[in-house]
This record gives sequence, C-alpha cells and structure tokens, in this order.
Amino acid sequence: MPTIIGLVGSVRRASFNAALLRAAIEAAPATITIETASIAGIPLYNGDEEAASGIPEPARVLKERIAAADGLMLITPEYNNSVPGTFKNSIDWLSRPMSDIPRVFGGRAVAMMGATPGRGGTTLAQAAWLPVVRVLGMRPWFGRTLYVANAGSVFDKDGKLVDEQVRKQLTAFMAGFAEFVMHSPA
Ligand code: FNR
Repeated sequence: MPTIIGLVGSVRRASFNAALLRAAIEAAPATITIETASIAGIPLYNGDEEAASGIPEPARVLKERIAAADGLMLITPEYNNSVPGTFKNSIDWLSRPMSDIPRVFGGRAVAMMGATPGRGGTTLAQAAWLPVVRVLGMRPWFGRTLYVANAGSVFDKDGKLVDEQVRKQLTAFMAGFAEFVMHSPA
C-alpha cells in the first residue's frame, strides 16, 4: 500500500498541527497508509558537526523514512508570516549531503497543510515553503488547499477535530492527494 509520511513542524505537546495530522489520518482513504513523523531531537544545523560526525541520528532515520515513502505531507505552523525556523532547520539537515537530495526528495509527491489559532490559516507559511519544495525537486500537489484558521475552536481541548466543515475539506484533500501519490512516477 502506498505510504505517506506526515511530518509535523511543531514539537509542542498540544500542537494544533499534530492534531491536524491525526485528523488527516482519520479522514484519509483506506487505500493509503500515513505514518506520523516528528522533527523532535533534530539539532541546529552545524556544518562543523556534519563534517566531523555526519548526519545526526534522528535526521538520518527520518531521511530514510522519507526516501522509502511514496509521498510527504508537511503539516506546518506559521511563525512571523513564514515557515518556523525549527521546521526549516530540520529540512535543511534532511537535505544533506546534497548528493542525497534526488534520492530523498527528487520527484517525491508532497502536499502542505497547516493550522493556526490566528485568522490567516498558515497561508503565508505554506507559500514560503514553495521555494524549498522547488529546490529539492519535489513533485507538489496543488489540487486543493487546506488552511486551518481559528484552530482553538476547530479542535477541542483534547485536540480532536470538532469542525465538520474542516473535516469535509480534509477528507477531500486526503482523497485528492492519495490519488496523486498513487499515480506518482517517483
Ligand atoms: C506564532 N504564531 C503565528 N500564527 C500565525 O498565524 N501567523 C504568524 O505569523 C505567527 N507567528 C508566530 C511566531 C512565533 C515565534 C510563534 C511561537 C507563534 C502562532 C502560532 O500559529 C501558534 O503558536 C500555533 O499554535 C503554532 O502551531 P502548533 O504548535 O500549535 O502546531
């Protein structure tokens, strides 16, 4: 069965983006498997550390999971109208060494979604990811958008999706991306 890695760009315990991925897994068609992945434990990128010891273990493991998957979902918070530095830093480690980029990211189907308690729905963060997706040679799916605003009322206090409109959007999003992944040449 095709596998999609859902990578959450927040390590916060009550993360709305982690909640969004859980809801996406529930909403996904039975024809695909979605595995949850985290940026937890990935240190700050440091070229000296890379030269001395290579890729840190949590980044190395995540790289191989992405390389083995059929698709990737970036579930992104928005910080200061852009991508969270913590999330970008993790992707930067995953892009090392450069010679591995085609194997890990090249042609890989990718979709983005994000949640915020604010009103913008992570539109600016998702737009800010686009040059990264491009330079890594990924195959972005643009069939639908999912910008979850007002996350404080879309999810309950236990992080369960309680907004039926968002659930509908999520179901259509996951069906569309699953279809795209299944027809991916990667
Ligand atoms: C934010 N937040 C935020 N939200 C937003 O919609 N647009 C923004 O530009 C910002 N900027 C921003 C900067 C920084 C440094 C922080 C820490 C936060 C709020 C953000 O959406 C909120 O903290 C979310 O809850 C983060 O996602 P998780 O951790 O819930 O997944």
